Amino acid sequence: MKAKDYCTLTCGDKSIKLPVYEGTEGPDVIDITKLYRETGFFTYDPGYMSTGSCHSEITFIDGDKGILRYRGYPIEQLAEHSDYLEVCYLLLEGELPNEEQKKNFKDTITHHTLLHEQMAKTYTGLQRDSHPMAIMVTIVGALSAFYHDSTDIDDEEQRTKAIDRMIAKMPTMAAAAYKYSIGQPFVYPDNNLDYVSNFLRMCFAVPTEKYVVNPVFAKALDTIMILHADHEQNASTSTVRLAGSSEANPFACISSGVTSLWGPAHGGANEACLRMLEEIGTVDRVPEYVKRARDPNDKYRLMGFGHRVYKNYDPRARIMQKTCHAVLHELDHDDDPILKVALELERIALQDDYFIERKLYPNVDYYSGITMRALGFPSSMFTVLFSVARTVGWIAQWKEMIEDPRQRIARPRQLYVGKTERDFIPLDKR
Ligand code: ACO
Repeated sequence: MKAKDYCTLTCGDKSIKLPVYEGTEGPDVIDITKLYRETGFFTYDPGYMSTGSCHSEITFIDGDKGILRYRGYPIEQLAEHSDYLEVCYLLLEGELPNEEQKKNFKDTITHHTLLHEQMAKTYTGLQRDSHPMAIMVTIVGALSAFYHDSTDIDDEEQRTKAIDRMIAKMPTMAAAAYKYSIGQPFVYPDNNLDYVSNFLRMCFAVPTEKYVVNPVFAKALDTIMILHADHEQNASTSTVRLAGSSEANPFACISSGVTSLWGPAHGGANEACLRMLEEIGTVDRVPEYVKRARDPNDKYRLMGFGHRVYKNYDPRARIMQKTCHAVLHELDHDDDPILKVALELERIALQDDYFIERKLYPNVDYYSGITMRALGFPSSMFTVLFSVARTVGWIAQWKEMIEDPRQRIARPRQLYVGKTERDFIPLDKR
């Protein structure tokens, strides 16, 4: 990368000229890689408040303006005109596919949907009442044991095969996690169906009845998948990159992403948000919860509100709200009581000084829980769906990193504040 400029930093009695790089959009960055060698100082930025961990061509976010683009394409246009598999191709390859590329990609993904038959035994080794995300962490990690022939990250063909397998098998694994948790038989994929219809069928069909995919539901799930496909260097993606930087195999890296996503401050927020809306229950109780969220002595937060990057309305939340209305309308539930609570909570919070000052707006999780529940998913499956959708983002970011010749192991440093050297005390003297 060529420096656009230099800035001078004075640390103690030393001054250093640091290169400044310019991206195609977004803030410039100061390259501090030589800071320690030349001054003896580390930087300190817990939570990465001002730290760029990599350069990337995949996803751009302008949090102040509420902009999200994959490979330059606005999320609104992709959600309206594209479909999830096309978005997967775009994220992985950098360009939208032409007709032939689209067909080939779809064929490849479709023909990798089946799981190794022995994987069923991995599921049955787990407790039935395990959280489906606990099952996903196990199963995704287990992929490297079943598909060892695509774990050599230096072999391009194996990398591609691992990527195709991940995208194709995630819905099958997620649906099986759900089926296992409710005691129903696993449903094999039907390769005549498109990606999301197949996923819905594997989740909701039973061998005793014919399952017909509702096109409104399929469209809604496809939109949910597009909205969650990538989000630059968020916690789970950074986890995948960090794991991958040690040259761990892609399946192991993606399972680390699933683990990170599970937390309620990240992908677990959709489940927490629906729980919150259900707990509020009726519109008249909304002010009470807003009051709690604003109370500095109460750790309570409104789930589905606020974002590290978006200091404006999350563009995905807007699309998700529309999708939510479409699904509820299809079900004749336009006056869903939980939707009413959500709309009222949003209305009150957006007028409240506390939320205005802190720039707290609904994020993607705010409406996704209501939508997924209306599609028939229990709340324990929400983060699982998110992990299925985000797999392509994780794997595209992993691919970008592995294919970068400058890639090195990620190894942050620390400010040590522990004890200085002291002598060992024998047990009888402690
Ligand atoms: N409700 C009430 N207050 C909030 C909320 C919220 N949801 N979010 C942030 N705040 C307040 C904080 O208390 C803090 O107030 P203070 O300045 O008086 O101390 C201020 O806003 C800044 O909050 P931080 O925690 O410093 O912001 P950060 O960027 O670290 O956190 C996060 C972002 C984790 C998403 C946070 O907003 C949150 O916990 N939201 C609820 C969980 C959620 O919805 N997560 C989903 C994120 S999107 C995703 O992962 C797909």
